[in-house]
Amino acid sequence: MTDAPLPHNTLDLRPVLKVVLQDYSLPFTGDHGIIHWARVLENGLLVGRHAGANLRVVSLFAVLHDSKRMNEYADPAHGPRAALFAESLQGQVFELEAAELELLKTACRGHTHEKHHPDVTIQTCWDADRLDLGRVGITPHPNYLNTSHARLKETIQWADGRASMRFIPELIQKDWGIDLPEFRG
Ligand SMILES: [Fe+2]
Ligand SMILES: [Fe+2]
Repeated sequence: MTDAPLPHNTLDLRPVLKVVLQDYSLPFTGDHGIIHWARVLENGLLVGRHAGANLRVVSLFAVLHDSKRMNEYADPAHGPRAALFAESLQGQVFELEAAELELLKTACRGHTHEKHHPDVTIQTCWDADRLDLGRVGITPHPNYLNTSHARLKETIQWADGRASMRFIPELIQKDWGIDLPEFRG
């Protein structure tokens, strides 16, 4: 982690990542690690701008939702654990309105097993994550997506292409100050 310039999106995630990575027990570059979080963030910012979502919540979801996974396969309780973790960071690492914190916790808690939700910010969080399923060989199906922009063929193709080729977003270095090569091998 370095003191890179502030990110261009809505929230400085570096203090959050610092705490998240202290405890993250899986490979940083694994299927549910930093590169996935960065693509989820970019998916979420794209979809969320169109949907009118709360982008602070979407950004925090991106770096927190898989942060408490204990393996790369079946770990159905990692969403609820992430929700509890998010709550513990409130007032320490970030300061959300009470309603925003509830959205973040609900999005983290339900992201593995719930399909749809009436709130547009939670919809965006889940879409952002599902649009990245190509990294594990699954093309996202519109029936499992919530927002109209995520369900567009063009959006699915764009996100699925990046996920399938394991595209590494520039923001990891530029905004988060994380130099991935140091984590390789
Ligand atoms: Fe997850
Ligand atoms: Fe995920």
